Amino acid sequence: MQAMSQVPSRAAAGFASAFGADPAGLWAAPGRVNLIGEHTDYNDGFVLPFALPHRVVVAAAAVPTPRWRVWSEQTGETVEFGAAEADEPGRVEGWAGYVAGVVWTLRSKGYEVPGADLAVASDVPAGAGLSSSAALESAVLTALADLGGLALPVEDRPGLAQRAENDYVGMPCGIMDQSASIRAEAGHALFLDCRSLAIEQIPFDVAASGLAVLVVDTQAPHRHAGGEYASRRRACEEAAALLGVPALRDVSDLDAALEKLTDDVMRRRVRHVVTENQRVLDTVDLLRAGRVREIGPLLTASHASMRDDFEITVPEVDLAVSTALAAGAYGARMTGGGFGGCVLALIDATETDRVAAAVAAAYAERGFTAPVWFAARPGPGAERIE
Ligand code: GLA
Repeated sequence: MQAMSQVPSRAAAGFASAFGADPAGLWAAPGRVNLIGEHTDYNDGFVLPFALPHRVVVAAAAVPTPRWRVWSEQTGETVEFGAAEADEPGRVEGWAGYVAGVVWTLRSKGYEVPGADLAVASDVPAGAGLSSSAALESAVLTALADLGGLALPVEDRPGLAQRAENDYVGMPCGIMDQSASIRAEAGHALFLDCRSLAIEQIPFDVAASGLAVLVVDTQAPHRHAGGEYASRRRACEEAAALLGVPALRDVSDLDAALEKLTDDVMRRRVRHVVTENQRVLDTVDLLRAGRVREIGPLLTASHASMRDDFEITVPEVDLAVSTALAAGAYGARMTGGGFGGCVLALIDATETDRVAAAVAAAYAERGFTAPVWFAARPGPGAERIE
């Protein structure tokens, strides 16, 4: 907690030293964990993420000309770009591409984006599948919208941030991460229908039930994550086309759909998406009824489906899940896009240290890099903090 509360002052101090002035304000946007509903977003399905207390903080001030300077605490560098670079997708590369992408998406939709100086600090672990890039996009979007007085309804913002990532950076992600970062509320999980974009805030106060969500960052290196993600997405789109439905969300009779498909891999991809959507709906029903512990088996079934049918887990991830379950977790699953990243486990709050220690011991035995862990409580979505 100590380190987290220092992020805003680090962003402000970074702004002062990079640009020699005080920022006009500070904006923050969180990373996320997804409780359940993986690889369902781009299939027009359902997801249930919540915002982490870990956030990207942007200290910013408008400047009178259309150019942007961005300092990053992580790299210590300042990247500068103008309208020409912002208007050409892919031109600004690396971490600053997410910032340029937000400028691009807003400008291309006709918004008068103010030029700005921005300083970025963060305690969202990068490359851990906790959506540090969506948090960066969301924080920058929120800052620029406020600085420019842009009339930007909150329900439109996740789609704009997603577009920055899809079309400027070139990562074909769905809309879950940006929605979580922008629309989540403290103490709640965000139930999102990725087709209608309707949301419902589902109370998720695990502590009140004596529970905790243990998040284990497996430290597993991301193996070909981008290419594998894109190929999963393509397989789903091809399957939907073969089945004659707009998206896999529309498969209502799974058995009939599986019979129509001849390719075994494609059948398993479809089975994951269709059963995962149902698990999200079942989880939401249980949470609405206050039966938090009972979502455990759904989490575990989600993991098995990702491991066996969608094939997006890696040994480190599977070991964290099986060890947490053996140590008494009610349920456990990988969270996020896969091929590394984080695992979450629903456990009794008093058991946090013991379950984490069990995972660490299992990792040591297998010779895996020691995992990092924390207990996650749902935090607020993007907001101005100063
Ligand atoms: C990544 C993407 C999301 C979503 C998840 C998998 O986090 O950015 O849009 O597809 O993977 O559920």
